[in-house]
Amino acid sequence: MRTKIVAGNWKMNKTLIEATQLTSEVMTLTGAEINGETKIVLCVPFPYLLSTKNQLGNSPLLVGAQNCSEHDSGAYTGEVSAPMLKSMGIPYVILGHSERRQYFGEDGKLLAKKVDKALANAIIPIFCCGEPLDVRENGTHETLVRTQVEASLFHLAADAIRKVVIAYEPVWAIGTGKTASTQQAQDMHAVIRKLLTTKYGEAVAQSIPILYGGSVKPDNAKELFECPDVDGGLVGGASLKARDFIEIVRGIN
Ligand code: 13P
Repeated sequence: MRTKIVAGNWKMNKTLIEATQLTSEVMTLTGAEINGETKIVLCVPFPYLLSTKNQLGNSPLLVGAQNCSEHDSGAYTGEVSAPMLKSMGIPYVILGHSERRQYFGEDGKLLAKKVDKALANAIIPIFCCGEPLDVRENGTHETLVRTQVEASLFHLAADAIRKVVIAYEPVWAIGTGKTASTQQAQDMHAVIRKLLTTKYGEAVAQSIPILYGGSVKPDNAKELFECPDVDGGLVGGASLKARDFIEIVRGIN
């Protein structure tokens, strides 16, 4: 069975006090009814990683970063490296989010290096892929997503890619309130899994969690998570409200 994951991507939101408050509310609401098999990850801004991790203590919630450098250390002002994340015991890092691709010019080759750095430091990359609206409209979305996955992950050996989590996030569904239909989500997840099967074989492809992201809300999470190839979600806006986030997590049980 594949690991089920619901990760909240807080993006660049919340002050320290607000972040502490949100974490505390999520912890309170994470009751016994949450399936222990599901990994719940809070991907918080860099400055709050350690305080959030300490706050979570031995609760089942985990903390993740939203990016890391392709370098280990050195004169890269403002950057945060994978060894730094490892030194704080951070288990997950989001890589290749469409906002990083769009606003910070991150491309497939750079992301391949970041994936390598994360894995070399025993951090699980949540690797994002997904097409913008014009690509969906001209019908080449499957080709683009295949290219994104191949460019940044297909240099990995089978035992390395097994440690990766993929998140399909159609750009047109991010922050727009427009969710992919269950059919659109399942179709793309199946395309990604087939691609993995062709390259790495059935056993590896079946072991890799593929999350859906893009306007996941309490009222659509359950049906998305019921799709056979959707193994959880990467949640933006709704992860900033504890009640909504936990409702979404409940959708996977
Ligand atoms: P929204 O859930 O706000 O659409 O954001 C999705 C996202 O970008 C998660 O990484």
